Amino acid sequence: MQTMTTGDRTIIGQQAEQPVGGIAAGCQFASDNTAGFCPDAWRTLEAANAGCVASYGNDPWTERACDLIREVFEYPADVFFVFNGTAANSLAIASLCQSYHSVLCHELAHVETDECGAPEFFSNGTKLLLVPGDGGKLTADGITQAVERRRDIHYPKPRVLSVTQATELSTVYSLDELGAIHDACRRHNLRLHMDGARFANAAVAMDLPPRRFTWEVGVDVLCLGGTKNGMGVGDAVVFFRKDLAEEFAYRCKQAGQLASKMRFLTAPWVGLLEEGAWLANARRANAAAARLESGFRDIPGIEVLGRREANAVFVRLPEPLAAGLRACGWRFYDFIGSGGCRFMCSWATTDADIDGLLADCRRLNRDADGINRRDRV
Ligand SMILES: Cc1ncc(COP(=O)(O)O)c(C=O)c1O
Repeated sequence: MQTMTTGDRTIIGQQAEQPVGGIAAGCQFASDNTAGFCPDAWRTLEAANAGCVASYGNDPWTERACDLIREVFEYPADVFFVFNGTAANSLAIASLCQSYHSVLCHELAHVETDECGAPEFFSNGTKLLLVPGDGGKLTADGITQAVERRRDIHYPKPRVLSVTQATELSTVYSLDELGAIHDACRRHNLRLHMDGARFANAAVAMDLPPRRFTWEVGVDVLCLGGTKNGMGVGDAVVFFRKDLAEEFAYRCKQAGQLASKMRFLTAPWVGLLEEGAWLANARRANAAAARLESGFRDIPGIEVLGRREANAVFVRLPEPLAAGLRACGWRFYDFIGSGGCRFMCSWATTDADIDGLLADCRRLNRDADGINRRDRV
């Protein structure tokens, strides 16, 4: 049986796409997972390959990566490294609740739509309660309604709120919005988990010190994305409440998330963080999305959807144009969020990539116009 990976979603039993020269042509817009290591992360990974060091995280690279994360957040957080965002989210959420609790999240949250039930699995049956909200965002009112819907013993007790920053729809919670969410969490006794798979993109969009929109607004645990930011593999779990991190190392080990050669997960973090490459990478990805968005706006027939603040652009494309782009080799998703096509940019997206895509849009539109005119004659 073949598995076909269309960026973030793997379809079992279909013909796998044949890569051209190692990279499927045009796949750079399918996901920020399609990019490789950024040069800074690669440099420290290579440096870490020299010699022997202690295993399971007792090495200088891991210590340095933890210290750098603490510096970035200006907080003595407890930090753990896992292989991917699903593990980070699931294990972090499991550490915040008991099996009879529920976790409130947006109805489009990755923990709901794309983690194969892992958050429920790792917390032994916790239920996700889905909350609607414009632009992929939760609101204090939505949270209150969800909490107050049921309060009886027959329903799982709300204990955790999960927010995604930047959101699945490429929007970013403002400081005020996070403040209101924090108040709602306090009112309803909810612990606050932040899925920060694209935290760096949010940080750049907000242009604020990371402490301002994490522990200062009540985030208990942050899953900090490395993979989409320029690592090859690996995300970090950052606990701002130390009591919640107790025995988390055992959770990681039991879940198969304790890397024996930990330095290869952590050395790239050092490269990303020590001179600010993590922000430079996110800035490049967000700027690429801004350039793409503005190009799309100039093309008749393409409708930009929503309010983009991070590194993905959502558009409505006429069906023949979408099909034409795919036939040219461009890859993008049409199943994320509440409709439209998603074009995701990464640290590696170039102006030439964007200009090439936009040129194909214009050419396909011209060709379609020509055919329509011929048909009318
Ligand atoms: C919002 C969000 N959270 C978490 C993840 C991490 O998922 P993975 O387990 O594929 O690394 C992703 C990846 O697409 C994501 O978009």
